[in-house]
Amino acid sequence: MKISQDVEKAHKIALEARENSHSPYSKFAVGAALKVREAKLAIGGCNVENASFGGTVCAERVAVLSAVATHGKIHPEFLIIVTAEKKATVPCAFCLQVLAEFCPDDMPVYLANQKSILKSYRFKDFLPHPFRAFKADKK
Ligand code: THU
Repeated sequence: MKISQDVEKAHKIALEARENSHSPYSKFAVGAALKVREAKLAIGGCNVENASFGGTVCAERVAVLSAVATHGKIHPEFLIIVTAEKKATVPCAFCLQVLAEFCPDDMPVYLANQKSILKSYRFKDFLPHPFRAFKADKK
């Protein structure tokens, strides 16, 4: 797979973020990095678990929410997700719904491990029919 320099840099950022994963319960550390037009470097995220389990936030959501917190209106270019698995780890449905709020359907999504980028998809491959904002009836 031909990988751009931007994606290679984002892979490193996702790996660094993964080092900060707080995952004492699952022991499954995940890193992510979202490249947005507004920033030169991709914005990293890691999974942050919670003793209540339900309070756990995935790496992808941390990355996208951090991008919003830092830049306000964002224009995502691509997302990369890294785990230590041999087989690519796909984003969960909860993350897909949150990503759908900000990311275009054709946004590339790279799935990687520490060694390499394993697969390349488009956001719409995971969520072909996203629920997005609708206009409420004015009454
Ligand atoms: N997790 C992520 O951070 N991203 C994914 O795409 C899948 C799952 C996290 C949530 C939890 O901390 C751990 O991985 C095990 O499910």
